[in-house]
Amino acid sequence: KTVHVIGAPMDYGSDRRGVDMGPSAIRYADLAAQLDAAGVDAVDTGDLLVPRAEERDPDGANAKFLDEIEDVSLRLAAEVADTLAEGAFPLVLGGDHAVAIGSLAGSARDAEIGALWLDAHGDFNTPATSPSGNVHGMPLAAALGRGEFADTEWANATGLREENVALVGLRNLDPSEREAIRESEMTAFTMSDIDERGVTSVVDEALDIVTAGTDGVHVSLDVDWLDPDEAPGVGTPVRGGATYREAHAALEAIAQRDAEEEFLRSLEVVEVNPILDESNRTADIAAELAASALGKRIL
Ligand code: ARG
Ligand code: MN
Ligand code: MN
Ligand code: MN
Repeated sequence: KTVHVIGAPMDYGSDRRGVDMGPSAIRYADLAAQLDAAGVDAVDTGDLLVPRAEERDPDGANAKFLDEIEDVSLRLAAEVADTLAEGAFPLVLGGDHAVAIGSLAGSARDAEIGALWLDAHGDFNTPATSPSGNVHGMPLAAALGRGEFADTEWANATGLREENVALVGLRNLDPSEREAIRESEMTAFTMSDIDERGVTSVVDEALDIVTAGTDGVHVSLDVDWLDPDEAPGVGTPVRGGATYREAHAALEAIAQRDAEEEFLRSLEVVEVNPILDESNRTADIAAELAASALGKRIL
């Protein structure tokens, strides 16, 4: 496998400046060595151009910086789609979770895909339901063309259907977002499911859902999926997340099954914020988990 590392240093989607430094922090955490240990060839394609948020006007309160996010998403989607067309594997480094809009649009451009969403949050708000106006709380709704996003063609992942979306590790939902998830065709597994069944059993069932009838799967890893004790460098921490070993077990389970079924199509690691981090430990775990997903093994 040849992996193309694509940096997406975008912080338009969240209130906490600093997440734009995520790609640098993950590279500094020796992502290259981790990928080498996973046995993949990696090419770092550098960072996408993202103009400074300070130089821009956030515009409406319902979906801040949406014009800017459109701009970056179009470039990211093209980059991801081109990478796949070359026969390489896109690994996107965020940036806040709004980068998933571009990743999903690119990954789903010429294929039917499923999406596995590892996150404390549902990221299923629309501009009308969002309490914050932060687009990093909306990428799944955007990709699926929900609400106002029905009219933002650039944000829609054409080859992604709700039935093939599985969320894993949820523990913080806004009231109307919660209703929308319950009424959707997506499948949601909370931290309680992980408590009861164990993380590998939950991930295995989630993989059944995202692989059913699809050509491939996009895995979106928001590092706030982990417990803040393990990953303190995030803008929206929520207690009670995946432990260090649960996180590795989950991504190793993905790799193990991919070795047989070859469904893994694209991967992103988002929401690493070095300004809020402790000695880069969140970036360290981000790099490690990417390697686990791509086949790194202890033995
Ligand atoms: N639900 C909250 C909101 O919409 C928080 C979203 C956090 N999302 C994230 N990708 N960290 O504002
Ligand atoms: Mn603007
Ligand atoms: Mn999150
Ligand atoms: Mn998220």
